[in-house]
Amino acid sequence: MQKILLTGGAGYIGSHTAIYLLEHGYDVVIVDNLSNASRKAVDAIKNITRKSFKFYRADVRYKTALYKVFRENKIDAVVHFAGLKAVGESVDKPLMYYDNNLKSTVALLNVMKAYNVTRVVFSSSATIYADPDSRLYNEKTTKVARATNAYGTTKVMQEYILEDTVNGAEFSDAGGLKVMSLRYFNPIGAHESGDIGENPNGIPNNLAPYITQVLVGRREYLSVFGDDYDTPDGTCIRDYIHITDLAIGHTLALKYLFSLTGAHFDAINLGSGKGSSVFEVIKSFEKAAGAEVPYKITGRRAGDLPETVADVQKAKNILGFVTTHTLDDGTLDSLNWQQKHPNGFEELD
Ligand code: NAD
Ligand code: UFG
Repeated sequence: MQKILLTGGAGYIGSHTAIYLLEHGYDVVIVDNLSNASRKAVDAIKNITRKSFKFYRADVRYKTALYKVFRENKIDAVVHFAGLKAVGESVDKPLMYYDNNLKSTVALLNVMKAYNVTRVVFSSSATIYADPDSRLYNEKTTKVARATNAYGTTKVMQEYILEDTVNGAEFSDAGGLKVMSLRYFNPIGAHESGDIGENPNGIPNNLAPYITQVLVGRREYLSVFGDDYDTPDGTCIRDYIHITDLAIGHTLALKYLFSLTGAHFDAINLGSGKGSSVFEVIKSFEKAAGAEVPYKITGRRAGDLPETVADVQKAKNILGFVTTHTLDDGTLDSLNWQQKHPNGFEELD
């Protein structure tokens, strides 16, 4: 059984990927410092899958902690989710973001090298793209740019660190480093059980968790950040991808890396290929809830682009990846999780 190390595996995307991997014949080991996750997410993974796995509460920046994990487990591949991800916070605290996100990737690669582990899937983001010159963001033709915030810049820099290491000689003796950088668009949804889901700390930055908190009465109304964009209904368009589809994408990326010999770097979009506006997302949640989402139109949020939608052809061609969940599935599952656990993991005491 292949053993996959998930850094940041207690977080939103990592925990759902852990469930999918455990249910599809993989063993997992999770390392997370719980800076943005609850220990209860780890328990929820165990309860849902009825599988046991090792969890280490540790910081990926510190090699000593990582050495222990690699010493105690024969790791076949890594999925590197660990990272700080709040765009606004990263503008205020860039050093914290560079320190956490860059150091963790460098430490991880060094320890992988020491243990001859040569396969890693990396959590990248659509945020690394500059404005596209066509409607869709394409891995080859859309330029990667210095982002408008430190979070995005750490993703650009981490891709460079990974690509340079693939092209360098440090993994040669081990057979070459193989990297798949997955550029996620906008994750939405939760596990179908409703017993694990997105569990943001404090006021949610993202659209879906904000709406679900409004729908369970934790917040009064949603602020819609601008209805004067050059889009059909004036609100921004995003590509929402169901968390289970994302988990499947990671599993396919791992399979692909296991099929390779020799050094390899590739970057692939994970999105649905379909754009939905803020108003369309609100409508979908209203359908799921059978209730209105109270909202107010406020000013634009700095840095928001009118439209980001993935070109999904490469994911299909290389990984055989196609999404099977719709936006309505995503909003229904996000709401189900929030309704079952209105206060997220606080509720599970
Ligand atoms: P999340 O915050 O829920 O999960 C990240 C996890 O990493 C958390 O559990 C956190 O405690 C852990 N972590 C952070 N720094 C760590 C460190 N130094 N050592 C150990 N653990 C650490 O976020 P998520 O939404 O699950 O995102 C996972 C990854 O995907 C992140 O790298 C994020 O930047 C990236 N990503 C997320 C989105 C999104 O919209 N959710 C979009 C694109 C990319
Ligand atoms: N929005 C609102 N009100 C809110 C929150 C969001 O109107 O309270 C709008 C935004 O203006 C945007 C859309 O909803 O038009 C989606 O916003 P999110 O904050 O949910 O998502 P973003 O597209 O801004 O960014 C997300 C992650 C980034 C990641 C990016 C691409 O936050 O980390 O997707 O993957 F890089």
